[in-house]
Amino acid sequence: MKNDFILVLGAGGNIGGKIAHELLAAGATVAVAGRNRARLQQFENKATILAGDFADDLFLQQAFENTTTLFLTVPDEHLANPAATAARLGKLLQASRVKHIVNISNSIIAKAGAPTRLVAFEQELNKLAHVPILHLRCANFYENLNWGLHTPYAPDLKLPYIASYEVARVAAYHLLSPGFTGKTVAVLLGPRDYSMAELAAAAGETYEQLPYTSANEHFYRPFNEGDFEVEERTSDNTSQLRDARFTLEYFLENDLVRQPLSTDQ
Ligand SMILES: NC(=O)c1ccc[n+]([C@@H]2O[C@H](COP(=O)([O-])OP(=O)(O)OC[C@H]3O[C@@H](n4cnc5c(N)ncnc54)[C@H](OP(=O)(O)O)[C@@H]3O)[C@@H](O)[C@H]2O)c1
Repeated sequence: MKNDFILVLGAGGNIGGKIAHELLAAGATVAVAGRNRARLQQFENKATILAGDFADDLFLQQAFENTTTLFLTVPDEHLANPAATAARLGKLLQASRVKHIVNISNSIIAKAGAPTRLVAFEQELNKLAHVPILHLRCANFYENLNWGLHTPYAPDLKLPYIASYEVARVAAYHLLSPGFTGKTVAVLLGPRDYSMAELAAAAGETYEQLPYTSANEHFYRPFNEGDFEVEERTSDNTSQLRDARFTLEYFLENDLVRQPLSTDQ
């Protein structure tokens, strides 16, 4: 049908915005969704703009009406009950023409003895029988450094990092030619693992490990105590850095926002 589009949820944000730009650059017909219309204005006259809340069934139902391929990113608060969110999406999708879904997920697959929220959500989504889904298990985005170069992470703890530009390129590839069937996983680990001490040094600072706060201890402590599981690095899931924007150096030069040192994060 001539109004069919690829729908990008969260397009006013980091990864959704980059995916929408990749799709438009490839000449695709795109719709972009998010709550804040001002953040979607960058797509004026280029894509169909759909302003609304993920929590609103009618909004999603109407957005899915002309969608053949969906980039799915679920707002954090809807991951608190992954089974309910997946079941709700299942109902809305069943009544739609969505034929393929690319879902953003995380390369940290378990923490503190349980699947991480995005992986738990994958498991629930996989119960939706009628639609092929590709889960992109991504490394930490370099943009996380914009929350602060100094954190409660132990200085030498290494985790995989990736440029969101690279995730967007891969996501766009699969959205443009959705060859996947069933329920599959693609792991994107970026070029290498980094410690916070290395990342801060690359940005020209000496890393200072901050104390836990009551709000963040549950997040950081399992990492510092080794109580987590991350996807194993292989040559297939390691980035070949085919574009300058996929490198840490590009991020540090162009997209790093320095935050004042604070113990409140
Ligand atoms: N950061 C990482 O290292 C990392 C790694 C792997 C996976 N991920 C996952 O990637 C996903 C996206 O990350 P991101 O960096 O692109 O986040 P982001 O920049 O915060 O973008 C998320 C977008 O979702 C929209 N949104 C939020 N709540 C909404 C709601 N209730 N209804 C409709 N839209 C809503 C927001 O726009 P409005 O406010 O305008 O609605 C926002 O633009 C997250 O699920 C994250 O867990 C992140």
